[in-house]
Amino acid sequence: MTAKKIDGRAIAQEVRDAVKADVAAMVAEGKKPPGLATVLVGEDPASQVYVRMKHRACEEAGIRSIGHKLPASSTQEEVEGLVKELNEDSDVHGILVQLPLPDGLDDERILRTISIDKDVDGFHPLNIGRLAQKGREPQFVPATPFGVIHLLKHEGVEMEGANAVVLGRSNIVGRPAALLLLKENATVTICHSRTRDLQEKSRQADILIAAVGIPEMVKGDWIKPGAAVIDVGVNRVDDDTKKRGYRLVGDVDYEEAKEVAGYLTPVPGGVGPMTIAMLLRNTVRAAKIAYEK
Ligand code: GUN
Repeated sequence: MTAKKIDGRAIAQEVRDAVKADVAAMVAEGKKPPGLATVLVGEDPASQVYVRMKHRACEEAGIRSIGHKLPASSTQEEVEGLVKELNEDSDVHGILVQLPLPDGLDDERILRTISIDKDVDGFHPLNIGRLAQKGREPQFVPATPFGVIHLLKHEGVEMEGANAVVLGRSNIVGRPAALLLLKENATVTICHSRTRDLQEKSRQADILIAAVGIPEMVKGDWIKPGAAVIDVGVNRVDDDTKKRGYRLVGDVDYEEAKEVAGYLTPVPGGVGPMTIAMLLRNTVRAAKIAYEK
């Protein structure tokens, strides 16, 4: 079997085109375009790249974005103070505090400070709590797992009743992805570093989500033939043949997996572009919430 490659770039572009049209319609009605404020604390190189990409994507969609940079030495009060100012600013519809925060800052307290209606990352404990409960709807769903579900729906992968296995239990991806799959009526197993018989569990999956951050951990014989495999990992591995000295690989061994899986996302060009597209979608939603008040 050769897996169908899920083209995250093309699917993300569809979402971005729809967002752009929504923004244009908002502006045509005489409203201000949606505004996203990002908060970047410290100098983490990967975070800097991600935040820059988010601003660029906003610009392309007609969303105003305002970047706030704070030094790694910032205190808890300084970061929370900035978030509170942004909560009060009516031109800011969405607030994104880039994670991870430098050591010494309490991310839960900071995320809790964000106004629930501006929490475009969906990381506020109330939004996560609603996601975890039956019959409740969060105001916003975290962008990466939201993108994963969008890809599965787009490809027509049946989630109801499917065995879904999530490798990884992070707050940003693994846990919310598992909760979303449960909302879609999948039977969900979350595996992590202490899981016994990881390979065996993985092989039971009709839908396999890999979000562990270990380069090419998932081999061909971890995959049930025909499964939908979504690779959330983005790992740098040394590669002297590349000018920059490294290449990006996922948590799944692509060459092996493509011979077994039914659907497979590449890295790069799979889940990555979806994260940004879903953030833009959440930001437009935040503006609509503000304008409907
Ligand atoms: N760090 C890694 N992914 C994300 C994300 O989706 N949002 C934020 N705020 N930080 C992240």
